[in-house]
Amino acid sequence: MSVEEPGGDREREPDGDREQEPDVDREQAVTDEVLASFAKTADPRLHQIMDSLVLHLHAFARDVRLSQQEWDAGIDFLTRAGHITDDRRQEFILLSDVLGLSMLTVAINEPKTPGTTEATVFGPFFVDGAPEIPLGGDLAHGAAGTPCYVSGQVLAPDGSPIPGARLDIWGADEDGFYDVQYPDGHTAARGWLRAGDHGEYRFWTVLPTPYPIPHDGPVGDLLTATARGPMRPAHLHFKVTAPGYRTLITHIFVAGDPYLGNDAVFGVKASLVVEVGHYRDTPAPDGSHGAGAWTRMGFDLVLAPEEIGF
Ligand code: BEZ
Ligand code: FE
Repeated sequence: MSVEEPGGDREREPDGDREQEPDVDREQAVTDEVLASFAKTADPRLHQIMDSLVLHLHAFARDVRLSQQEWDAGIDFLTRAGHITDDRRQEFILLSDVLGLSMLTVAINEPKTPGTTEATVFGPFFVDGAPEIPLGGDLAHGAAGTPCYVSGQVLAPDGSPIPGARLDIWGADEDGFYDVQYPDGHTAARGWLRAGDHGEYRFWTVLPTPYPIPHDGPVGDLLTATARGPMRPAHLHFKVTAPGYRTLITHIFVAGDPYLGNDAVFGVKASLVVEVGHYRDTPAPDGSHGAGAWTRMGFDLVLAPEEIGF
């Protein structure tokens, strides 16, 4: 395991280096010199970001009295994250997710407009160019799992419908894998559709199940070293767009899932948890699935008008 506990050496007998009092002036001189190097940055926002980043990064190194060996381990971690990242695997998004930075960015940027659907983490499995399906169509495209009929309305906060809103949906199959995690390049359990004239939407997919985020890389090692698990509670992803409204990136979660209180990426909001209806040998609302098992989830998606917020 190449991730070390910060400050772990403090528990040991102090050695020569560790016993030294920090040379505050010498350390501050390094920080000041780096801050000064950004003085001519033309873009004020970039200047602000770099100054703050350096200040916090240096404060962190001082706080934990970062050893050379520990920073080498940090560099090795980042190097391994880079090597495992490609078109289908994004270890840096995973890192942001497990550190809660993705959800913090959501909290900073998505105003909590009363009466609108809460946003949550985007995740690494959205794919541009997923197939369009008709209203009421099936986006499972053969994904393994129990059929699930999902329906609701896309609404404005005053309850008026948003006709023609675009809904992009993606989810894992019953084995806990997204299509892009299979090597054969097939598309399944993803697609997009437009809401109808009354903002209504409905589609078939497969019932989501809990699954682990990819944990065979450095982020997985970090979770293991910190006694954390990789599981996410069962959920379905939505990206909802409509002219005049803020894009909503969210999930619906399956009520009763054992990981709702323990999401590896901190994405759960109580308002997004939905009861699932389980049926057998009963016709579905569209008359299909008269035989066999199927499930149903209902959820209205309420978008915030564009002018609200920042
Ligand atoms: C997801 O829900 O697809 C996801 C989110 C964060 C990390 C990994 C997966
Ligand atoms: Fe997911």
